[in-house]
Amino acid sequence: MELYLDTAKIEEIEEGVELGVISGVTTNPSLLAKANPSAPIEHLKKICSIVKGPVSAEVVSTNFKDMISEGLKIAKIAENIVVKIPITEDGLKATKVLSRENIAVNMTLIFSESQAILASLVGAAYISPFIGRLDDISYDGMNLVKSISEILNITNSKSKIIAASVRHPLHVVQAAKAGAHIATVPFKTIKQLAQNPLTDIGLEKFLKDSKGISIVN
Ligand code: E4P
Repeated sequence: MELYLDTAKIEEIEEGVELGVISGVTTNPSLLAKANPSAPIEHLKKICSIVKGPVSAEVVSTNFKDMISEGLKIAKIAENIVVKIPITEDGLKATKVLSRENIAVNMTLIFSESQAILASLVGAAYISPFIGRLDDISYDGMNLVKSISEILNITNSKSKIIAASVRHPLHVVQAAKAGAHIATVPFKTIKQLAQNPLTDIGLEKFLKDSKGISIVN
């Protein structure tokens, strides 16, 4: 499973890429607003130059015609940009048209298997079920990822699952086991993935036991 960063903040993306574990980025209108860019298009261009892999940028239009023209504008930002479109009837129509033009679409705000089936049928390159938001309302978000993964396998779909709305390290581990191709993860959670108190205790003991003996000096 690949890891993407779920942020629009340049510093976080630079640090995440430096760690060597990030192969893409997802943004949404809320994340973009939080990063507060003076020029959004330039900001997204910069993100696309830092990360070699896919960078999702979401349309804010809600009707088919405007989604298409906004999607086409977004698609011109960089070669690795992915147009993010919410699963609505207009969104499905727009995804069909953009996908036919070989524009990669990330269909977002997926909360059910039926929505995922439709997203796959219109050719979405990525399908983003929102785990955390489902957990928030007492539904098992991870169960949805597992179920979508089974359906995509049975139907031989080319769409990839991005486990989104990830809240903690366990979500990442469970998403990998549930068959997600990608988990998009907040910066804080990426850092938490590397942490373990036993590692800190172990390292402290090794350094203490070494009594200053160094192999290289
Ligand atoms: C990413 O594609 C989603 O927009 C994002 O993961 C949503 O996360 P949230 O539910 O924490 O806002």
